[in-house]
Amino acid sequence: MVTAVAQRLASQRKEIDDTLATFTLSTTQLQEVKAKMRVELERGLKKDTHPTASVKMLPTYVYRTPDGTERGKYLALDLGGTNFRVLVVKIRTGMRNSVRMYNKIYAIPLEIMQGTGEELFDHIVQCISDFLDYMGMKNTRLPLGFTFSFPCNQTGIDKGDLVSWTKGFKATDCEGYDVVDMLREAIKRRNEFDLDIVAIVNDTVGTMMTCAYEDPKCQIGLIAGTGSNVCYMEEMKNIELVEGDEGQMCVNTEWGGFGENDNIEDIRTRYDREVDGGSLNPGKQRFEKMTSGMYLGEIVRQILIDLTKRGLLFRGRITERLKTKGIFETKFLSQIESDRLALLQVRSILQSLGLDSTCDDSIIVKEVCGAVSRRAAQLCGAGMAAIVDKIRENRGLDHLEITVGVDGTLYKLHPHFSTILKDTVRELAPNCKVDFILSEDGSGKGAALITAVIDKYLYAMRFSDETLRDIMARFRREMENGLGGDTNPTATVKMLPTFVRSIPDGSEKGDFIALDLGGSNFRILRVKVSHEKKQTVQMESQIYETPEDIIHGSGSRLFDHVAECLGDFMEKQKIKDKKLPVGFTFSFPCAHSKLDEAVLLTWTKRFKASGVEGMDVVKLLNKAIKKRGDYDADIMAVVNDTVGTMMTCGFDDQRCEVGIIIGTGTNACYMEELRHIDMVEGDEGRMCINTEWGAFGDDGTLEDIRTEFDREIDRGSLNPGKQLFEKMVSGMYMGELVRLILVKMAKEGLLFEGRITPELLTKGKFETKHVSAIEKSKEGLTKAKEILTRLGVEPSEDDCIAVQHVCAIVSFRSANLIAATLGAILTRLKDNKNSPRLRTTVGIDGSLYKMHPQYSRRLHKTVRRLVPESDVRFLLSESGSGKGAAMVTAWASRLCFHHPTNINTEQMC
Ligand code: BG6
Ligand code: BG6
Ligand code: GLC
Ligand code: GLC
Repeated sequence: MVTAVAQRLASQRKEIDDTLATFTLSTTQLQEVKAKMRVELERGLKKDTHPTASVKMLPTYVYRTPDGTERGKYLALDLGGTNFRVLVVKIRTGMRNSVRMYNKIYAIPLEIMQGTGEELFDHIVQCISDFLDYMGMKNTRLPLGFTFSFPCNQTGIDKGDLVSWTKGFKATDCEGYDVVDMLREAIKRRNEFDLDIVAIVNDTVGTMMTCAYEDPKCQIGLIAGTGSNVCYMEEMKNIELVEGDEGQMCVNTEWGGFGENDNIEDIRTRYDREVDGGSLNPGKQRFEKMTSGMYLGEIVRQILIDLTKRGLLFRGRITERLKTKGIFETKFLSQIESDRLALLQVRSILQSLGLDSTCDDSIIVKEVCGAVSRRAAQLCGAGMAAIVDKIRENRGLDHLEITVGVDGTLYKLHPHFSTILKDTVRELAPNCKVDFILSEDGSGKGAALITAVIDKYLYAMRFSDETLRDIMARFRREMENGLGGDTNPTATVKMLPTFVRSIPDGSEKGDFIALDLGGSNFRILRVKVSHEKKQTVQMESQIYETPEDIIHGSGSRLFDHVAECLGDFMEKQKIKDKKLPVGFTFSFPCAHSKLDEAVLLTWTKRFKASGVEGMDVVKLLNKAIKKRGDYDADIMAVVNDTVGTMMTCGFDDQRCEVGIIIGTGTNACYMEELRHIDMVEGDEGRMCINTEWGAFGDDGTLEDIRTEFDREIDRGSLNPGKQLFEKMVSGMYMGELVRLILVKMAKEGLLFEGRITPELLTKGKFETKHVSAIEKSKEGLTKAKEILTRLGVEPSEDDCIAVQHVCAIVSFRSANLIAATLGAILTRLKDNKNSPRLRTTVGIDGSLYKMHPQYSRRLHKTVRRLVPESDVRFLLSESGSGKGAAMVTAWASRLCFHHPTNINTEQMC
């Protein structure tokens, strides 16, 4: 009898042992897991294997860990772990360990986690609203870092499309959409406060940043909590999904997906498959389901059910409680496994869960928990060994010392998990010394630090579409003020009539001279338009210097210089004895009462010659020519460069009715209905208006978006208080804006290890062409290094990346602002035509638009977004505005000489 019982017990024991043995992994098996993980890491990084890789290796656009010099006040959200938290994080200047945080935990009810996306984001925004009220911060528009602990395909630090929900979330209409957009939309729906969402951050990344703030060796972030995941600093050259080879970027591995391609089926058990089958995302996140808090209790429950069915537990009785999904939370697993608990206490925990157990049952349950959690810790250890060895090899080291920042309830609360994890890493990656530090403050602090690193000064330079639409509306009002008879005298945007009434119609012909003064080059051209079979244009041109002492000297000297250059050109062209019609592109604001009279209102950009403002430049030039007496010229038309550009482009595309310049300065002209132009008589037809939009903001309209750097630029300019819009966007100021930001960042130790050189402090040392070079996608970082080295600052890789970022923000702001003002012109044209859709062409010129690698694309994209009901063709003026000036001249001279009775002649000639 005794032996029968003993035999039965022994066989039961064996059954239990056999069951649990399926969870035991030998060193060889763990090494295999490590090797397979390594293969998947590589596959995730490579472009061609990425689509089928189970470990997605997502770029995060976080290029560096904090260096302790960050400061500021930030909001953070922390969504996706056990708790949803809203925080405010204050970082005091330049000192580590000087972070103060306030946070509130909010519940996310299951029906919201699994409801619609709109409900979820509305709920999040409601929690933010409550928090802002609670903190009394509703009216302070703070930058926000969003820890969002789910896989996102990022294309920038503030852009991330949700790949798929994981863990317990399953809200509809979110997968494939940009999480930042969804949050912005929800904020807009609530219409109660505004936030600048600066960064979207995975919790692993937030955790790495939180820990790196304390320990600079921390370059890996691990979460062992509800879910399981790792991020680490990877070499840019290995991340094929992102352009650029220099420096590092943090990669969110999303290793939870490991095994989705069946490569760890040998170690998955039937219980793992049960758990997977009953989850929200069957077949997915297989590694996560073997290793993380959300699932370990479920695996234990499946084993208990099976053992009970087989009569090995709970006297063979499967209770309703045991059938209840989710009763085993990680915290119970952790408690049951605690060595400090006596068996009786284990029993009482089981009883509290409604599982009526004997002492023997308690022993078995504890063993089951141990087997499951041990395997989880070992698997994470094997994965981590793959990562540290990869980093070691990346850096060509025999030995690597590195720190992992860790968070998550499983790691924090479980009595053995961390020890087993560390032992496994030590065994499987013997050439690495890996330290683990616990993140005490959660990943929200890290998200705030990322926000601080990135947006210390720059967040004020990013505009939402809403802000851009608002700027567009403001500019439309300015245009109306400029056009109205009553409002024009005090209007800032002058809306100057040009007396150009149509674009070229193809009948122009003749031999002309064009002067082109006011852009980066002073050019004189000869333009011959002939009409053999079809209209052809022949042009020859020469560039002349305009030395600074001349453009800043007396007006008569300036015009003597222009006349001298013209004489030289005519001599070279052997036409000194002819009196060719001259078109004069003069790229400054002029009041016209006819085509060949142009009173300079004010100098802009680099020019400041005395005695010219308030004078007719045609008279001044004629006087200078007459004084010489060696040739004669007939100046028939003065045109602004925007008008010249519109005419040049109009020659090729009859639909062209807008001309813009984004060069040294910026400006636009367009064809307005004459009946709307109070300053000119007549109601029929159209006339080109030179908006002089560079002066937008001179009355304070743009103060809310101007930064301290814009004010500094203005103070140091030739025309303080004037052309404020131009100073935020055009090429003459852009390099200088970047330089001022760099100086400020360096002063605060954020760049160049705080070194400031005399070159860096010299005005004009950083040019707009440098911004263009640095933003090139392939060689940009190399260029940054060259340019900064010339400024004597010995930049690190991180410095180069940061400078590239600054350039991008400044040039992006420019393109966005121009999109808004151009958008206003386009909507006005559309309204004038009274048509539901606008089809038009915009002629463009200017060095910034032409040379900057990303500018035109960004501009076009934003315009299309801001004015969706339009089909706009952007036509680059290939041959400058001189050709257009010749077209206007052709038209003027034809009217004067061939149609003396034309009713408009008087106005035009
Ligand atoms: C918290 C972090 O401390 O840990 C979260 O702030 C993270 O960002 C979480 O998601 C992970 O642990 P768990 O156990 O809450 O999922
Ligand atoms: C040139 C035009 O192509 O572009 C000029 O011919 C114009 O008239 C100039 O002023 C604007 O660009 P930038 O960059 O030279 O100021
Ligand atoms: C899941 C998510 C991942 C997150 C992890 C830890 O694996 O997919 O993004 O980091 O959980 O919370
Ligand atoms: C300045 C001038 C304007 C010109 C623009 C582009 O804004 O005031 O007339 O069109 O620069 O060159």
